[in-house]
Amino acid sequence: MTDTTPPFWVVIPAAGVGSRMQADRPKQYLKLGQRSLIEHTLDCFLDQPGLLGLVVCLSPEDGWWSQLPCAVDPRITRTDGGRERADSVLNGLHRLAELGAAADDWVLVHDAARPNLAESDLLKLLAQLQDDPVGGLLAVPVRDTLKLADADGRVSSTPDRSLYWQAYTPQMFRLGALRSALGDALAAGAVITDESSAMEWAGHRPRLVEGRADNIKITRPEDLRP
Ligand code: C5P
Repeated sequence: MTDTTPPFWVVIPAAGVGSRMQADRPKQYLKLGQRSLIEHTLDCFLDQPGLLGLVVCLSPEDGWWSQLPCAVDPRITRTDGGRERADSVLNGLHRLAELGAAADDWVLVHDAARPNLAESDLLKLLAQLQDDPVGGLLAVPVRDTLKLADADGRVSSTPDRSLYWQAYTPQMFRLGALRSALGDALAAGAVITDESSAMEWAGHRPRLVEGRADNIKITRPEDLRP
């Protein structure tokens, strides 16, 4: 790992409804201690010297964001999200280009619902990928034995788990390449659940950077219980 990190932009997709949380508001506005999840998530990036700017993708109907102090932070730009996460991210990338980001600039895409990103993981990702021709993502080797299910809910096989990783965020790619890959993949009707899958669809092989397992995505009510 080197001491220097490259300049980078951030896109935070935060336009989901988070229905699995069964809450009265989008999950990024649930409290973790004194502050909302999304404020914790933004804090992971805002003090980084390499940060060039940050775009948050929100539902056009979102009335919660404007009540947060960070809504007036000049480093943060709000833009509309889309139907799926990938549509939200693509909107965020278009907004970055409008803000002056260049095609070769690095962009880190990070879920609003992952408030526990360690600074050491962020710095590791930036350092390990800054000279990479493609980019990559934080990921964790799977710990549990995996089962392939059949249509009846029975086990059809047990794959070799040593080959499998769980994909986390941030995922770090160059603006131009990621924008083309996501735009083309969505236009072709491909199922895109993260930035890496769009890059893979376009023929690239993103690098896996091993991160901490506690960079979890808050998904279900039990994820927030002490
Ligand atoms: O639903 P899931 O937890 O996979 O969402 C991951 C992230 O993508 C969340 O931060 C969510 O707000 C965001 N998202 C989005 N636009 C959508 C759906 C999800 O920005 N249409």
